[in-house]
Amino acid sequence: MRGFFCLFVSLFILVSCTKHQNVMKLQGDVWPDTKGNVINAHGGGILYHKGVYYLYGEFKGDSTYLLESVKTWECWRADAGGVSCYSSTDLMNWTFEGMALSVVSEDTTSDLHPSQVIERPKVIYNRYTKKFVMWMHIESPDYEKAHAGVAIADSPTGPFTYLGSFKPNGQDSRDQTIFKDDDGRAYQVYSSEWNKTMYVSLLNGDYTKPSGIFTRNFEGEYREAPAVFKSKGTYYMITSGCSGWDPNVALYATADSMLGEWTLKGKICTGKDADSTFYAQSTFVFPVTGKKQTFVAMFDRWNKTDLDDSRYIWLPITFHRDSLEIAWKEEWSTDFKMN
Ligand code: GAL
Repeated sequence: MRGFFCLFVSLFILVSCTKHQNVMKLQGDVWPDTKGNVINAHGGGILYHKGVYYLYGEFKGDSTYLLESVKTWECWRADAGGVSCYSSTDLMNWTFEGMALSVVSEDTTSDLHPSQVIERPKVIYNRYTKKFVMWMHIESPDYEKAHAGVAIADSPTGPFTYLGSFKPNGQDSRDQTIFKDDDGRAYQVYSSEWNKTMYVSLLNGDYTKPSGIFTRNFEGEYREAPAVFKSKGTYYMITSGCSGWDPNVALYATADSMLGEWTLKGKICTGKDADSTFYAQSTFVFPVTGKKQTFVAMFDRWNKTDLDDSRYIWLPITFHRDSLEIAWKEEWSTDFKMN
């Protein structure tokens, strides 16, 4: 009887603990926000500010069409809906904060007109200017423009004021990310020269322009979808190959400093569908605040014929002595007790 009682108590404790664990289990499924609406934040990135995680992403219009005038590749697109923002304190429950950067529907010549392309937005905070700075990929519908766009705001949720777009360092800027280092320097990392070369460009003091100092990396390797992070003094970059909306194998690279030299190391994903990056493409890596050497890698599982129904895969990164690994997990705990 006593044994049965102990078993009952243990089971009760186990069930209560499990209940309070935050388990990420919607890999590749529809992610609802706290109101039950589908999270629409693709090619996104995270900013952690004053105890809150902010997720920014491409808000994709709800009809997808093939741009027949583009003959060289399958130009599936959805109208640009601006940059959405969601907030969370536990990485599980995301509250929609509205559009951080809105489209400009009334001006057909604006970069932010729905007929244009707004991709891969990322936000960092500048503690000197006290501004939140957003960088994004701005495109013409046929993806020939290859500009970087910049916007600033006083609050993490916006509204962001658009400053315009340009070719940073005089070169194409397509898939891109922003990385702020511990010393306050920030960098834009972008696929350039028709995606042949990855540029790492130091930004100016207010983070709104290139400083003019940059390096060219992975020349001729056609890497895109860069996601950069730093652990124990080493810089890491996850990238995809170049196959449009279709998946390919993710590789990672390392460097001792942001400005290089960057060395491609090899594959990073393991487990089911690792060679297609779990049918997804990298977009961002963020450190989990308060946990040592704990990083989450974010991927987009694109659905090219129904782009706003593209899904999200988020997975923790495992550090081995000489390598990195992102193992497929159906579910894992955001308390970082791995399942
Ligand atoms: C991908 C890129 C996406 C989007 C897409 C368009 O290669 O990573 O962000 O631009 O091409 O086909």
